[in-house]
Amino acid sequence: MVRHFLKDDDITSAEQAEIIRLGIELKNSPYSRRPFEGPKTVALIFDKTSTRTRVSFAVGVADLGGAPLIIDSQTSQMGGKESVADTARVLERQVAAIVWRTYAHSGLEEMAANSRVPVINSLSDDYHPCQLLADLMTVQEHKGKTAGLTIAYIGDAANNMANSYLVACALAGMHVRVAAPAKYQPNADVVTKARAIAEQTGGSVSLSQSPAEAIAGADVVTTDTWISMGQESEKAQRIADFAGYTIDANLMGQAATDAIFLHCLPAYRGYEVSAEVIDGPQSVIWDEAENRLHAQKALMVWLAEQG
Ligand code: CP
Ligand code: NVA
Repeated sequence: MVRHFLKDDDITSAEQAEIIRLGIELKNSPYSRRPFEGPKTVALIFDKTSTRTRVSFAVGVADLGGAPLIIDSQTSQMGGKESVADTARVLERQVAAIVWRTYAHSGLEEMAANSRVPVINSLSDDYHPCQLLADLMTVQEHKGKTAGLTIAYIGDAANNMANSYLVACALAGMHVRVAAPAKYQPNADVVTKARAIAEQTGGSVSLSQSPAEAIAGADVVTTDTWISMGQESEKAQRIADFAGYTIDANLMGQAATDAIFLHCLPAYRGYEVSAEVIDGPQSVIWDEAENRLHAQKALMVWLAEQG
């Protein structure tokens, strides 16, 4: 049975740990696994812009013996001209996997429902699960574990990154604390799901509007842009709404003294995080960005083995 990876809980807690372990192994031994030898082609489709995701998947597919095919959906028949289901039926006969960055999450579900090869979500409006594999791998490397640690997510909690942090960190047995303005609290269904997962893994989920409350003693501190792709017209309103939610040195000083700072990037210094923090000694953002490569290679190896 083909497995897809559209959201963080499409894998179990044990499977997540196995993929992260494999990511660390592949970081040390980049060419040791060759599931796409042939080379088999992997389609990388982008409806939104990207730097890290495009590079890490293209390099990762090549490292695994395959050939990456980057498809800019603007110049393909996808979208208004041809349905997602028909696109899936064409692609699945020729490629070994489909990686898609898009807007509505339902498009990914339609792609997966019509594909006999794995479909991977490389960011939708609702989830960014590949980013969380890299983030958890980075936590594992710097802290030696994930379970039992406290992570504080401060900022826009009504977006894809917040959803993925809630679900993936709950799966990893972490204590997830979210602080966001009332208007930008996380999706209630996602919170319910994350809490149910945390109950099984020994983690927890707490929500507040207070950055100070969320960050107090935290082991891992993170945020995301206040203006996600597709929200550019709301920029002025959002900057006003998030006043007081910048992670600056004063706020960071309230986390554990050995806390690390994560950011999926791209970052907007001076909005969600100050330059002092993101470019400071506690920031591990470049390891995190590099780990996209290793974690996604592990994911692709693992998915290839399931089919
Ligand atoms: N973090 C992330 O997904 O970066 P890109 O938008 O550059 O791919
Ligand atoms: N929330 C951001 C993440 C970028 C990687 C966005 O969707 O634009």
